[in-house]
Amino acid sequence: MSVFLDCINKKPVKRPPIWLMRQAGRYLSEYRETRKQAGSFLDLCYNSELATEVTLQPIEKFGFDAAILFADILLILDALGVKVEFIEGMGPKIEPVKDIKSINNLFDIKDIHQKLNPVYKTVSLLKSSLPKNVPLIGFAGAPWTLATYLINGKGEAGSLTTKKFLLSNPSEFEKIIEILTEATIEYLLMQIKYGADVIKIFDSWAGSLNADMVLNYSLKPLKRIVETIKVKHPNIPFIVFPRGVNTTYSYFSETEVFDVLAIDQFLDRDWVAREIQPKKTIQGNLDPIFLTLEKDVLLKELNKVMDSFKKYPFIFNLGHGITPDAKVDNVKLLVEFIKQTDLE
Ligand code: CP3
Repeated sequence: MSVFLDCINKKPVKRPPIWLMRQAGRYLSEYRETRKQAGSFLDLCYNSELATEVTLQPIEKFGFDAAILFADILLILDALGVKVEFIEGMGPKIEPVKDIKSINNLFDIKDIHQKLNPVYKTVSLLKSSLPKNVPLIGFAGAPWTLATYLINGKGEAGSLTTKKFLLSNPSEFEKIIEILTEATIEYLLMQIKYGADVIKIFDSWAGSLNADMVLNYSLKPLKRIVETIKVKHPNIPFIVFPRGVNTTYSYFSETEVFDVLAIDQFLDRDWVAREIQPKKTIQGNLDPIFLTLEKDVLLKELNKVMDSFKKYPFIFNLGHGITPDAKVDNVKLLVEFIKQTDLE
């Protein structure tokens, strides 16, 4: 009944399913209105009714095949007792945790649910309001990506501060990864309990890691999270997104417990079709920049993506989140284009 779940479960589909990272966001005037009503971005994340409303906006407007819970990967840091703010025009700002004392000051993992309760309520409201053929994707940030915000206090090109920390204090860093891994397991189990149908884990800064570090700090904790949750929920599919890991994407495609691998826009599509697709269903990888350009430029690129990936099942998406300057008409055109595709 759902083209998205059928594709994940390797059933034959007539066309690729489509949804977009950040499909609820500032490129939509409806979102900007609701956001204003909520107050701050964090207020919106913790307001279950309004978070439900913005999750549904792109589903109603464009007819995407999946909805993604409206929240943020950094809420879990807030729930662990770390001060998290979103500064207008600048992005997230976190009170950095850099020593064993502040690591020990983090809240007990079992206590995160109190703060995160409104998120679980959003999941449950969405379950009762989404059309039956539109599954709900729950999500979390990967431990490495969360650690980069925790240690550096904000996003940083190359994650240099966090890499220096992990190379100088490996045992303290391991402790941080362990806490974030356990908290994420708890958080995702609750999202599943309240009704998430599929889970996506964003390792947005995995590309800052050298190849051997990718295995230790991106792949290993991701595998642990998915394996642990699948003991209880073997049928919940997991999409993992180790953004920017280049050829080490291969290691992720060889990891059985992952169901879908999200692909960024930097990879060579022919390499992906050859090396990754035979082993793993992929999701991706249109560069979000094309949604800001003229229609003919977008259409040319869409045809390239389809030609590269159509031989195996894939989920259409972007290589990263949609940007605030994306054109609404381009998103409409994109969904129409994908929906009239005939893979048979
Ligand atoms: O529609 C959806 O995709 C669901 C909601 C969602 C948001 N953030 C809402 C959001 C999801 C899944 C995320 C994930 C997220 N958040 C990631 C992983 C994906 C990625 O982009 O790599 C990361 C790294 C974050 C942390 C984060 N949140 C940053 C760095 C920023 C600032 C950058 C920006 O785009 O402004 C945010 C803010 C944010 N998260 C917005 C939205 C809609 C914009 C906030 C606003 O309304 O002002």
